Amino acid sequence: MTSETVTLTINGVKTSLNASSRMTLADALRDVARLTGTHVACEHGVCGACTVIIDGLAVRSCLMLAVQAAGSEVVTVEGLARKGELSALQAAFRKHHAVQCGFCTPGILTTMHALLEEEPGADEERIREVLSGNICRCTGYVQIVEAVMEARASYSRIGSPT
Ligand code: FES
Ligand code: FES
Repeated sequence: MTSETVTLTINGVKTSLNASSRMTLADALRDVARLTGTHVACEHGVCGACTVIIDGLAVRSCLMLAVQAAGSEVVTVEGLARKGELSALQAAFRKHHAVQCGFCTPGILTTMHALLEEEPGADEERIREVLSGNICRCTGYVQIVEAVMEARASYSRIGSPT
């Protein structure tokens, strides 16, 4: 299988990855860039665990080839914190204990971050609508929704907390 050098920006750092032409972006992030915060479960675009932000949009990285991301700005869950400080959204998840096993959490954080960047005033109904694309097998989503609703204030106030 041929491999290609894919140049893109990951979490603000211009990066070149050596990826085979059939490698998914999820695998390239995990296995080549060693950013293992992006989780892979269904590999069919169903569960949302692999969600990253590409040019501002929440995208299933298991459904995209690495070569298709060339030239893009990619933010993974590792890119949400700044200088070792949790983002407002991450801090709210911790405060509300919005995790159990945590496997779904990176995808939910990136999905909700993209939502609040785009729609800082998203109400509970909208948050639940977007969240419905991310499967969590541990929680009832209540604490996740509480955390996202608390984090909204930071996005409204300063645009982006990260
Ligand atoms: S692993 Fe990509 S959506 Fe489930
Ligand atoms: S916290 Fe375990 S799958 Fe969501």
